[in-house]
Amino acid sequence: MGVRSLLTGVGAYLPAEIVDNDTLARRVDTSDAWITERTGIRQRHIAAAHETAAFMGTEAARAALADAGVGAEAVDGIILATATPDQAFPATALRVQAALGIRQGFGFDVSAACAGFVYALSVADAMIQAGQAKGVLVIGSEVYSRILNWADRGTCVLFGDGAGAVFLQASPAGAAEGRGVLSTHLHADGTLGDILYVDGAVGQPDKPGHLVMNGREVFRHAVTRLAEAVEEALAANQLTAEAIDWLVPHQANLRIIDAMGRKLGLGRDKVVITVDRHANTSAASVPLALAEAWRDGRIRRGDLVLLEALGGGLAWGSALVRM
Ligand code: COA
Repeated sequence: MGVRSLLTGVGAYLPAEIVDNDTLARRVDTSDAWITERTGIRQRHIAAAHETAAFMGTEAARAALADAGVGAEAVDGIILATATPDQAFPATALRVQAALGIRQGFGFDVSAACAGFVYALSVADAMIQAGQAKGVLVIGSEVYSRILNWADRGTCVLFGDGAGAVFLQASPAGAAEGRGVLSTHLHADGTLGDILYVDGAVGQPDKPGHLVMNGREVFRHAVTRLAEAVEEALAANQLTAEAIDWLVPHQANLRIIDAMGRKLGLGRDKVVITVDRHANTSAASVPLALAEAWRDGRIRRGDLVLLEALGGGLAWGSALVRM
């Protein structure tokens, strides 16, 4: 067996400001009861002006490198997933690179909305397995508060800001022990682009650039597609759901998360849930949840962890990782 990509460090960053449902209910026609019942969300972190995707991504990356016990010299690539970059270019990954004082290697952003982290992880793993990189920072960093229509109660209550990161390192020893990224599976269906999108960008100056969503349709596709993705990941590794120690799902909605847990026969004690406190942080949600459960000792070295996410595109995917 050759080389595997080992997750040697995990880190996170959340803005200090917390906005609870009651506070939102003073701005738009909603209530804590409605939001909690339909989504499980109780609060979200909201970025201050200086807390951009690059700033938060840098902090999460620093934490991941510290957790891995390595310095910036170990990084030879940065792949950052975001739908809310600081600038059209340079890539947010390169703003992070500069902030970390790194001048070697490569960096680029990945745009796959809420599936962005799983996509970025898949690319980083492929590059490591191909021998193109030995140490890659994979970051998800988002400031959705800046693309929300704060007058649309159907969407503004659902999202939050934050960043999460992992450090992936090429490891022959990890391969021998059966640890590291075991598989990733990516999917997309661009014909569903109009059920969840941002209605503008710098290329469309007359459009405000606000998130628009048909919640029911997204919900329906999320449950079906993610169930397929999870089955695919297990089948590819000749595993059954009992082998999974932890499910770390995209944190969009507690009802979708519970549906996935039921599908796998995993109780809430085996599913990492942060949606109640973070809301949907898009590409940051999976690494934020992973970081929380890694830091508090729930997820341990050797555990089998299934990551999955779906978002605008539609784009979705899974990753199976032995920590
Ligand atoms: N507070 C109070 N009422 C609200 C509301 C809010 N924040 N948002 C919508 N409503 C109202 C609607 O106006 C509608 O009222 P009406 O029946 O008088 O027209 C009613 O609640 C039902 O709206 P609907 O959108 O059909 O609700 P729903 O049961 O589908 O729940 C979501 C809405 C968004 C919670 C749900 O569709 C969902 O979670 N979808 C998936 C979203 C998601 O995960 N997106 C990200 C994927 S990456």
